[in-house]
Amino acid sequence: MNILAVESSCDETAVAVVRDGRTVLSDIIASQADMHASYGGVVPEIASRKHVEAITALADQALDQAKVSKRELDAVAVTYAPGLIGAVLVGVNFAKAAAYALNLPLIPVHHVRGHIAANYIAHPNLEPPFVCLCVSGGNTLIADVQTYTQMALLGATRDDAAGECFDKAARVLGIGYPGGAPMDRLSQDGDDKCYALPRASVADAPLDMSFSGLKTAVVNLVHNAQQKGETLDLPGLAASFAAAVSDTLVPRTMEAARQKGYGKVAVAGGVAANSRIRADLERACQGSGDRLFLPPLSLCGDNAAMIGCQGYYEYLAGRRAGWDLNAYATRALDVG
Ligand code: KG4
Repeated sequence: MNILAVESSCDETAVAVVRDGRTVLSDIIASQADMHASYGGVVPEIASRKHVEAITALADQALDQAKVSKRELDAVAVTYAPGLIGAVLVGVNFAKAAAYALNLPLIPVHHVRGHIAANYIAHPNLEPPFVCLCVSGGNTLIADVQTYTQMALLGATRDDAAGECFDKAARVLGIGYPGGAPMDRLSQDGDDKCYALPRASVADAPLDMSFSGLKTAVVNLVHNAQQKGETLDLPGLAASFAAAVSDTLVPRTMEAARQKGYGKVAVAGGVAANSRIRADLERACQGSGDRLFLPPLSLCGDNAAMIGCQGYYEYLAGRRAGWDLNAYATRALDVG
């Protein structure tokens, strides 16, 4: 079964062709990151306009590269939530038009479910159930992946996503946007005990998280240093920051894994590329005996292959959208 998959929830326009869920025939991504860098973050209106400009040519490219004709497609899958509403709408409308014109079923895919599915592409033997830490620029949560399409929320951030926090810290340090990868590189040479940064917890919700205090702590630290004319140890700050994020994410993920007892832990989303988080999870899973599934860096960030993969399993479960499919800025993971 050949699925044309479309993703446009943030600042990447992406189209892929995926066969039978796990075989990626093409996966084309046009990033707008450079465009948004001068503003220090994604400008939603610009993101929408750039998606409109790019999407048709990307779809042609994806079909060419896959060597699949329009007639050989069996369905169209699209991210319909969550994300920047104007950006998601572009993908949804393109997918609707394509499915209508080609007389194909339309499959709505939850963006975070797509991130989780990136692990199925990377690990052919991975099957639910497992616990998945989903950590990106817009979402930070721990999912109980019971089946390919039945999921429950075990814990989530109460405020900022971890990626958003990386981006904000990088911005205040003047090291560019998106900030996660440069912060990660900078942290390699740093002492993670250089700065004492907060690790918040949520009363009566041990698997929930909070990152806004960490973000504010870094902003205050930088502003105070600037006012006093002090020079910061940037690698030390980046390493201390990564440690604080990892110390928040990893123990909660391991506790969730212990509670569910599946013996399998996966990670998903852009921040899953972070070297400190990956190393800490590897160590923790060695200790607990859980098998750890990490996506390759190429499948951590937004892409359409993951949407095609999850779309396949949603299709098998009977999920279809009508021509009235809308885009949603927020949508619960368990609703799908
Ligand atoms: O999954 P993604 O591409 O988009 C969303 O769905 O949000 O994630 C983007 C986020 C950005 O915040 C970016 O700074 C972060 O992932 N990121 C990283 C790393 N690479 C990307 N954060 C920490 N360490 C990294 N190596």
